[in-house]
Amino acid sequence: MSQQTYVMCKPDAVERGLVGEIIGRFEAKGLTVARAELRTIDRDTAAKHYAEHDGKPFFASLIDFITRGPSMLLVLEGPDDAGDDVFALVRLMMGSTNPAKSAPGTIRGDFGLLVTENLVHGSDSVESAAREIGIFFG
Ligand code: RTP
Ligand code: MG
Repeated sequence: MSQQTYVMCKPDAVERGLVGEIIGRFEAKGLTVARAELRTIDRDTAAKHYAEHDGKPFFASLIDFITRGPSMLLVLEGPDDAGDDVFALVRLMMGSTNPAKSAPGTIRGDFGLLVTENLVHGSDSVESAAREIGIFFG
């Protein structure tokens, strides 16, 4: 069974026409798209997805942002012999949470400026990947 992770091009990426660029980077690296759907996430699903941040000062604005328009929901797949977990490779290619501090060459580093609109989500562990694939494609 190949390794899978959950990835989302957030509403800002869809609005800015960067979905093709983002998916293209993962495909060029050698990952494949296993599932894909353009979907406006409802508030309950968003709250479940970001449950770890419930109660933090930015939680309400995070839910407003992620539900404001369609996101491109993806399951990306890598080969069993990738050498590392696929989620970690995706996170490396995304860059750090704050785009202003993300390295050039990463998605957030090349296209973002604001921590509130950072273009892309990727699961942060094998467990998160299974949980999030279940939430969005279960
Ligand atoms: P994500 O879950 O969206 O892939 O982002 P991440 O793992 O890099 O960052 P995480 O810590 O999980 O935070 C989730 C999202 O919350 C927003 N955030 N705002 N204002 C702030 O201090 C702050 N901290 C986090 C970001 O939009 C981040 O993507
Ligand atoms: Mg996160």
